[in-house]
Amino acid sequence: MTTFTPISLNDLPAHSPWPARLLGLEPWKNVKRDNMKIDEEYVRGNYTRCLELYERARGAVSIEDLRAIEFGSDDPTVVVSHGDELALAKLSDAYEEYYRLIERSIAPHVEDGDTLVELGCGYGYNLALLKKRLATSLAFRGGEYARTAVALAGTLFKDDDIRVEQFDFYSLNYPVIEQASAPVVIFTAYAVEQIPDITNMFDVLSKNRSKIKAVIHVEPIYEFQATGLLGLLRRRYIEVCDYNRNLYTELHRRSDIKIDVCEQNIFGINGLHPASVISWHFVS
Ligand SMILES: C[S@@+](CC[C@H](N)C(=O)[O-])C[C@H]1O[C@@H](n2cnc3c(N)ncnc32)[C@H](O)[C@@H]1O
Repeated sequence: MTTFTPISLNDLPAHSPWPARLLGLEPWKNVKRDNMKIDEEYVRGNYTRCLELYERARGAVSIEDLRAIEFGSDDPTVVVSHGDELALAKLSDAYEEYYRLIERSIAPHVEDGDTLVELGCGYGYNLALLKKRLATSLAFRGGEYARTAVALAGTLFKDDDIRVEQFDFYSLNYPVIEQASAPVVIFTAYAVEQIPDITNMFDVLSKNRSKIKAVIHVEPIYEFQATGLLGLLRRRYIEVCDYNRNLYTELHRRSDIKIDVCEQNIFGINGLHPASVISWHFVS
């Protein structure tokens, strides 16, 4: 059974280095989240470790084993965001809650015959999970910047019908969307997060608007962080990590977009970085 034990904001420093960093009491160097940073964190970092392990084991590891390598297998206790509250949970329980959130956010939007595309999908863990959990017949496609993750997905899913290809949110065209069969349902999960200014994505998606049925984001939203102390810490966390700061502003600003669902600060594996769920579609 999943157990979440509530803690007060006052107790956060006992479990996380972030309050002291954000208050300037411990060293921290602000991040510039450009492609060099993504290369360091993902291309050469997490995903290279997974790819090397997979190659050393000659493929005799499951996607679950890779997830454990990526996130550590000792299952530590972490501080999670539960709405506007904080709680302690085992990392494995926190991830299960995250996957349930992704599943329940996407399920109402897909039906047989749709293509489900995840942008910024890593090596396709969420896609593989949704393929198992959603009782519909969908085509699964992923777009990912890190070539190491794309290579890993190519071997992991070689006998499967999940395809992951090279993709960059900053590109002027998104072949993964152009080549997908309509109707297309797109989702992102902690991926738009990586792009400080996401304006380009809307311009590119709008070129493919006729085939896009719905877009769902399970993403931290800077603009939803309130003015209370926890909200201020969450805002500052996004700023010093150079995470996205205009997803909601862009959605709200564009007259060709209708927001269908907007649930604020639902859950996060990090107490300072909860995901909100927003789904939307293009209107003509
Ligand atoms: C926090 S991970 C989330 C991965 C996956 N969506 C999940 O829920 O596990 C962020 C992902 O965004 C990818 N990413 C970062 N910058 C990107 C870019 N410019 N274009 C496409 N993907 C990018 C990273 O390589 C990484 O796979």
